Amino acid sequence: MINVKIIKNPLKIKKYFIEIYKSAYKNTNPEYYETTNEEIERYFKWLHNHAPDGFIFLYFNKKPVGFAVVDFDWYDDKLNDVVAEIHEICIKKEYQNKGLGKILLDKITEFAKNKKLKFLCGYVGKENYQSLNFFKKYGFEENEIRWGIWRRIRKRLF
Ligand SMILES: CC(C)(COP(=O)(O)OP(=O)(O)OC[C@H]1O[C@@H](n2cnc3c(N)ncnc32)[C@H](O)[C@@H]1OP(=O)(O)O)[C@@H](O)C(=O)NCCC(=O)NCCS
Repeated sequence: MINVKIIKNPLKIKKYFIEIYKSAYKNTNPEYYETTNEEIERYFKWLHNHAPDGFIFLYFNKKPVGFAVVDFDWYDDKLNDVVAEIHEICIKKEYQNKGLGKILLDKITEFAKNKKLKFLCGYVGKENYQSLNFFKKYGFEENEIRWGIWRRIRKRLF
């Protein structure tokens, strides 16, 4: 059984965040993720400061196996508009490519539409093809590269 929900107190699930994050990025180019425990802790803190209401966890048979962190109040300088910014999305390695990422994305889309936001956006490592394929498959377009290695992606909702 699959359950997707917003976490009220993300500090309580930090342990699962770290476990899923490390598993999801295994074998990925280390340019695109935080590799040391210290960096991951700092990243978690940053996400918690910026999007405390945007920790969305996916449970499979009551086990946390995936999450997204979304800021539903992010200013996009190119669009000059507030957008839903997907800061992170991860599915544990052994659960990848089974449609769970799509279930998370559908939930993010539902929340963003309820808030009447016109766009879903994010950054993906420019050669993180697994993730780029995923977002493109579900209707995102690729845009400019920023800071050398990050590709801006975007999907129009309305
Ligand atoms: C990106 C991610 C969240 C997608 O979740 P998922 O549950 O694996 O994806 P789904 O099963 O819902 O969707 C399947 C699609 O994703 C893409 N995909 C998933 N795994 C892939 C792989 N190993 N290689 C290439 N494409 C892959 C494909 O487009 C696939 O569709 P296809 O089989 O028709 O080609 C997940 O793969 C992940 O955690 N990746 C590592 C972390 C990461 O890079 N996050 C994105 C940061 S921006």
